[in-house]
Amino acid sequence: MSGDRKDDHVRLAAAQQAAGARVNGFDDVTFVHHALDGIDADRVSLHTEIAGTRLPLPFYINAMTGGSEMTGAVNRDLAIAARETGVAIASGSVSIALGDPDVASTFRVLRDENPDGFVMANLGVERSADDALRAVELLDADALQVHVNAVQETVMPEGSRSFSTWPASLERIVAAVDVPVIVKEVGFGLSARTLQRLADIGVAYADVSGNGGTDFVRVENERRPRRDYTYLEGWGQSAVACLLDAPAGAPELLASGGVRSPLDVARALALGARGVGVSGSFLSVVLDGGAEALRERISDWAMHLTSLLALLGAEDLAALRSTDVVVGGATAEFCAARGVD
Ligand code: FNR
Repeated sequence: MSGDRKDDHVRLAAAQQAAGARVNGFDDVTFVHHALDGIDADRVSLHTEIAGTRLPLPFYINAMTGGSEMTGAVNRDLAIAARETGVAIASGSVSIALGDPDVASTFRVLRDENPDGFVMANLGVERSADDALRAVELLDADALQVHVNAVQETVMPEGSRSFSTWPASLERIVAAVDVPVIVKEVGFGLSARTLQRLADIGVAYADVSGNGGTDFVRVENERRPRRDYTYLEGWGQSAVACLLDAPAGAPELLASGGVRSPLDVARALALGARGVGVSGSFLSVVLDGGAEALRERISDWAMHLTSLLALLGAEDLAALRSTDVVVGGATAEFCAARGVD
């Protein structure tokens, strides 16, 4: 693994954002408009609890990067925007930083620039419990994201093809780490079965990170000598499908994957997510305009989300979860096939 790979990921993910719209499950979720239900925006609270910590905003900067000079600069800008707005933030996978002080600083900047913020470290599920402890220590992290990315590994030229050890490895990490562990996908979704297995392992928090946004099949395919995995593009379930299909005993749910606007944030929250992660759309903003542009974007989203809740008559996220939504399109077909009401 190298910093070049991290630079590739940022460049290729940003190119996907620039290429624009594709099928996105959030488009299948419509709020029913009730013309007399609105309330006053100054009554609306956006507070939520993510992994046991109360936070002022229910969306966050999700895992992306670190590991090279360029991605360290991106992390600095992301951290400043998080500090200035109070959103939670996750690092990219810190694997390449463990044991390399120069590389470590490109991640550590997330904490150095944001000493009082809610910072999540990120690591692959196949890493040891000891590495998980070091990842938390590196960022003085408030939580640890553990990513499960079998689809990405399959397409990644240098990726793993052995996945059978993952559940046991995850169990060891969960047992060792004393901050909350959030298991996340990287854009292919967590199925009902996976969510149940996570709960059985003792995982309390999961980010379903579904498809429709950054597609790591496309990212890794571009890095192959021949783009021979094109047929896997679009693999997986959307965040919306995952939220609807989640079993009653699932871990507490976060959602991400394809979140483009405050409306998508509201949709995910209405379907039960406690927090909503954003990677690709915020990455483009920070690459184009730096920390200040992202600070402004996040502040705008917070204002818009407040207005949307006022329009929907929801004074907080609990009330938003009881608003009327209609689910159509491919998501409705998925739900029917899965027997979801
Ligand atoms: C990611 N993502 C990611 N996830 C993770 O758990 N560890 C990681 O190191 C990375 N690296 C990474 C790099 C870049 C450049 C991007 C854009 C994304 C995946 C990310 O957290 C998220 O799950 C998906 O990108 C889907 O969300 P969006 O991008 O559609 O909002």
